[in-house]
Amino acid sequence: MSINGFTEKQFVSILKSQLSVRAPIKSIERLVGRDKELELIAEALYDDGGHVFIYGDRGVGKSSLAATVASKYQSKDNEPIQIPCGRNTLFFQTIGEIAERILRRAGASSSTEIEHNFSIKVYKLKIKDKSKEIKIPKIDSMFKAVDLLEEILNIHSSEPVIVIDEFDQIQKQEERANFAHFIKDLGDRGVNVKFIFTGVASSLYHLLGDHESSFRQLFTLKLDRLYWSYREEITLNAVKAFGLKVNEEIVHSIAKISNGFPYFVHLLTQNLLWAAFKDRELVKVISDHHYKEAINRSIVGISGRLQLPYEKATLDKSHDYLLALWATADSEDFIRYSDNIFKSYLRINEEIFGASPEGNEKPMNQKEFNKILAKFKTKSYGEVLEQVEGRRGLFSYKENLLRGYVALKAMDAGVELKGDEPDQPKISSAMAREKFSGKFGFKSAYPGDPASKIKFRNE
Ligand SMILES: Nc1ncnc2c1ncn2[C@@H]1O[C@H](COP(=O)(O)OP(=O)(O)OP(=O)(O)O)[C@@H](O)[C@H]1O
Ligand SMILES: [Mg+2]
Repeated sequence: MSINGFTEKQFVSILKSQLSVRAPIKSIERLVGRDKELELIAEALYDDGGHVFIYGDRGVGKSSLAATVASKYQSKDNEPIQIPCGRNTLFFQTIGEIAERILRRAGASSSTEIEHNFSIKVYKLKIKDKSKEIKIPKIDSMFKAVDLLEEILNIHSSEPVIVIDEFDQIQKQEERANFAHFIKDLGDRGVNVKFIFTGVASSLYHLLGDHESSFRQLFTLKLDRLYWSYREEITLNAVKAFGLKVNEEIVHSIAKISNGFPYFVHLLTQNLLWAAFKDRELVKVISDHHYKEAINRSIVGISGRLQLPYEKATLDKSHDYLLALWATADSEDFIRYSDNIFKSYLRINEEIFGASPEGNEKPMNQKEFNKILAKFKTKSYGEVLEQVEGRRGLFSYKENLLRGYVALKAMDAGVELKGDEPDQPKISSAMAREKFSGKFGFKSAYPGDPASKIKFRNE
């Protein structure tokens, strides 16, 4: 094969040391661009009873930050405890499971006994050559939960860390609230443990509703997308690890498509390297044809969860829907006015059909376009978009991670979306009127507004 004479095994081993598409990162050496967050979390964890809640978009890097922080603060006598949540996670049951997991890992043997008509598990283990017996009762009160964990955490390690991952998955509000009360009670008793929660949400209120205030005592951190230089750093480091060079535009394009979601940077870079490795020629510099192949491979390998809404919005529909969908992701901004999305649409239409399109290739007018945008909010069109806090004409993606997939599909069709350019600020209508009137020497409210020279389909 064709990178430096590497065998497939050698190639995969270097690849794995650099990239991790599906699993969160756990080591501080590979976590890029989160120094500030790490610093803030460190300060919070120094407080007695200080715990952390990391929230943000799906795929932005919450679990990676949580796992890295956990391995940093967990004392070296054991591993951090990782609890993934699901729809039906129940608080009392989870505490029982944490306890049993710790005991099993500590090498305890278990048996079942009957006490007051209840079966209880009894664990036997040796601690510093002394035999110890621990009974795990049916946990049905906060008191029992706190009591049990206080005893068990001593067995785990001197400075235990527990990660409660994907907290948003828990459906019942009362179960979530139990976690909040629990860490408060542990704190009141002075139990030495650090909790790190993660959850998908645009705001803490979305995640916790009326129980938001119970979590306010935690240090809450909203994790934003990765800045440009860090997106590029991931690609550049991986390419360098193979002794290769890469065209700067490719690195920039990957950063742009990713929209700051590291998942896409890892995915595209991994496929870029596979494309280079599978090349029949010896590769020293990664070039455009490898990038084309990487885009293709990435689309094939992407999770169905992202494919589904895209297909619902565009499959078996006229090209208007496809172009409108691409237009929604054609900006660095996550929250966009329909006017700006429409301008993106006109730009894309022109890029594909030229400056003087005919018939069906002429763009829709804004009214027709807005109807399609409204459809993108509905279930049968994949619920791609949502309206921002009841503000008419202002849209955001329901799941921002999807923007990367939209950009990837557009790129595959030869249209590069402008993920690196923010929208022009919308000006208030009074100011717009003045500008339209030419008061400040402007001919139009939007300088260079493409709509001014375009003939629409029904004109
Ligand atoms: N700071 C970072 N530097 C480099 N890669 C990162 C960073 N953060 C996350 N990643 C990578 O991005 C991908 C997504 O990260 P992670 O699973 O941590 O996100 P998440 O927010 O927990 O996602 P989800 O909401 O789906 O659980 C993973 O492949 C991970 O390797
Ligand atoms: Mg996660």
